[in-house]
Amino acid sequence: MSSKQFLLDELNKKMSACSQCALRSGCKNVVPGEGSAEAEVMFIGEGPGQKEDELGRPFVGAAGKFLDEMLEAIKLKREDVYIANVVKCRPPGNRDPLPEEAAACWPWLLEQIKIIQPKLIVTLGRHSMERFLPNQKISQVHGKAMRREIKGIGKQVFYTLYHPAAALYNGSMRELLIQDFKRIPKIIKKIQEEK
Ligand code: URA
Repeated sequence: MSSKQFLLDELNKKMSACSQCALRSGCKNVVPGEGSAEAEVMFIGEGPGQKEDELGRPFVGAAGKFLDEMLEAIKLKREDVYIANVVKCRPPGNRDPLPEEAAACWPWLLEQIKIIQPKLIVTLGRHSMERFLPNQKISQVHGKAMRREIKGIGKQVFYTLYHPAAALYNGSMRELLIQDFKRIPKIIKKIQEEK
C-alpha cells in the first residue's frame, strides 16, 4: 500500500467517528469517499443520498450509475479516481447541506485533498462549486477549468460540472454534462504539459 493510501485510510477511519454536526446522528453510515489516493482527478459531490447512506459508498445510486458511464466514456474506472463529497453524512430527506454542516466537514475534505494532491478537482453541482469558487454561476462556469488559490491547499485547478443527479432527467443539461465530461482528459494533459 502506498503511503498516501495509508494516510488517507487513517484519516477516513479517524474522521468517521466525527460528530461535529447533527448529521451523524441522523444517518446510517458515514460516506468518507472512495478510490485511489494516487488519483490525478478528484470528483467532489454534494453529500450522500439514500443509497449512499445505506452502503457507506459515494455515488452508488442513479446519479452514480450515470457518473460511472461518463467515466467509462473517458476510459477511467472508479478505482483510478477519487470520489468524495462536501458532507460525509446524509442530510435528512436529501435536503441541501446547511452552511454550518458543510463548514464542519470542510477540514476533512481539505485533508483528503492535501493527501491526494490531485491534478484536477472536478466539482459536481452548485454546492460543491460554491465551496471552492464562491459567487459563480454554474450556468456560466460549467465546463471551464480555473486555477484558484485555496487557503489550506494552495494553487489548484478546478473544473465545474453540473451535478449528474440534476442532469439525469434534463435532456439539455445532460448533453452539456456529457460534453463537459469528455474534456477532462484534455484538461489533465494540459495541466501535465504546463508543469
Ligand atoms: N449525490 C452526491 O452529491 N453525492 C453522492 O455521493 C451521491 C449523490
